[in-house]
Amino acid sequence: MSSRSPSPSASSPTEVPSRSAPIDGPPIDGTPIGVPAAVAPMPTTRPPLPSTVTLKVTMALTGTVFALFVLVHMIGNLKVYTGAEHFDAYAHWLRTLLEPLLPYEGALWIFRVVLLACLIAHVGASVMLIGRAHRARGRFRRRGMGLRRLPATLMPYTGLVLLVFIVVHILDLTTGTRPVASSSFESATADASSAHHNLVESLQRWPMALFYIVVMGLLGLHLVHGLWSVVNDLGATGRRVRQAGAVIALVVAAAVMIGNISIPIAVLAGAVG
Ligand code: HEM
Repeated sequence: MSSRSPSPSASSPTEVPSRSAPIDGPPIDGTPIGVPAAVAPMPTTRPPLPSTVTLKVTMALTGTVFALFVLVHMIGNLKVYTGAEHFDAYAHWLRTLLEPLLPYEGALWIFRVVLLACLIAHVGASVMLIGRAHRARGRFRRRGMGLRRLPATLMPYTGLVLLVFIVVHILDLTTGTRPVASSSFESATADASSAHHNLVESLQRWPMALFYIVVMGLLGLHLVHGLWSVVNDLGATGRRVRQAGAVIALVVAAAVMIGNISIPIAVLAGAVG
């Protein structure tokens, strides 16, 4: 046995070595024998809070809420093809939902607050995750990922465009704030809604219609990768479950994108008016 090998009484990783029992010879820093050596602090590997898993699950859950919202919203938007009367009645119903249990627009305000909370959590978690990924990667970059990785690579940018879109969209069709909204915007009243008129007047302006078309394309990209991430982040492992997840992600993203894109095109083409 080598004379340098630790004796059975040598300190365990949790014990503080004492100067009276040096492992590697006498102390070299002049500390008197018998005085416990100053121990260099162990490198702390405590993970940052909230944990990356918590952030990923937050993104997955809030993202699923958004995916459901845009799917239901797109189905509601398709009512534009059934005529102004039906579309306005639907917009009015959204404001009077659960009356008289809730006041006028009560249910709508609950949806708004839930969506805003999800938006803040989704954006906040994404900013933290992107920051951590950048710090972990340092100056290294993945290369040669090809077109298949494009939706994933573009996620922060498509997300940013969607944030801008939500602000423009609310100014355009909810608050009627000019010059974003058309000059003939009519606010909803307690008796009726002019949602169809406002939509048509807005999308008859081709730059606005083009903006909607481009953003809906980016929404499709964001959704397809986002929903696929939900499948992964919530831990789907079986081959069949993952295949089903991939198909659902693709179908929902394509349906939302195509359904919504059809509306500005139909308005521009004069098929809705
Ligand atoms: C071509 C695509 C779209 C069309 C035609 C459309 C149409 C509309 C219309 C007509 C309204 C007003 C409804 C009313 O006054 O009752 C509205 C509101 C709204 N839309 Fe869209 N929308 C589209 C895409 C989207 C997308 C992709 C999102 C989310 C990312 C979105 C989020 C909202 C929100 C948050 C409101 C406000 C609801 C409120 O607080 O009153 N929309 N949309």
